[in-house]
Amino acid sequence: MRNLTEANLTDAVVAKLATCPNPRLKQILTSIVRHAHAAVREVELTEAEWIEGIKFLTATGQKCDDKRQEFILLSDVLGVSMLMDAINHRKPTGATESTVLGPFYIEGAPDLPHGSDIAGKTPGEPTIVSGRVVTTDGKPIVGAVLDVWQTASNGLYSSQDPNQDLYNLRGRFRSDADGRYTFRTIKPVSYPVPTDGPVGDILRAMGRHPYRPAHIHFIVSAPGYEGVATHLFAEGDPYLESDAVFGVKDSLVVKFKPVAAGGSLEVQYDFGLKKVA
Ligand code: BEZ
Ligand code: FE
Repeated sequence: MRNLTEANLTDAVVAKLATCPNPRLKQILTSIVRHAHAAVREVELTEAEWIEGIKFLTATGQKCDDKRQEFILLSDVLGVSMLMDAINHRKPTGATESTVLGPFYIEGAPDLPHGSDIAGKTPGEPTIVSGRVVTTDGKPIVGAVLDVWQTASNGLYSSQDPNQDLYNLRGRFRSDADGRYTFRTIKPVSYPVPTDGPVGDILRAMGRHPYRPAHIHFIVSAPGYEGVATHLFAEGDPYLESDAVFGVKDSLVVKFKPVAAGGSLEVQYDFGLKKVA
């Protein structure tokens, strides 16, 4: 293994994986090596560009801590997260489609009774969200857990905003004997993904905006069923066609309809869960 050239270097590196005892790791590393070499070859990467790339990845790692995961954000804005989501969550008819989890979920949101308001004093358009959790053939699922979170009207999640209580605009609800759930909140707003780190720099370098269309996050789960991490997006949002993380699906876009009497909005949505095989 000497005098390796542009023509045979990739195969030489892949051949080194012959000793890798874990077949799945071997498969993944072989693919990464082949694709990384192909990219370098295709663009004829310069040394200055390689250094820029190394600096970018270093800064991405340095931006991470126990609250901030800049690598996941990078995966999100490059569409890698949604590609994995599509591959890992192929849903049958009747099962609610999944979308990106995002970095702002926190465990331990309070269990709240049917009809509770998760917005407290947060300003915004009052909204009642209700519907059912059902099987793929439409039968009610009793006792499903709906873990809900969203931004305040300033576009920030409670975990990003020292002026909000930790569990503001978050809660866990359970479907009742008819599979029904209801909670009160405020209409979510569109907001930018964090742009104060390397991912913001690369979005600006690509000439892309950082916005996500307004949405409410849900993780819906029930024993014996495949849980789903998903969102409900607000119909009419200007960013539905250009979500910074590629997460929008038609089946998840809902109307925030004015309620005839009383000045609030209402959203109705039935979540479908697939039985575990
Ligand atoms: C979110 O919807 O909370 C989110 C998803 C991906 C990246 C940033 C935020
Ligand atoms: Fe979000």
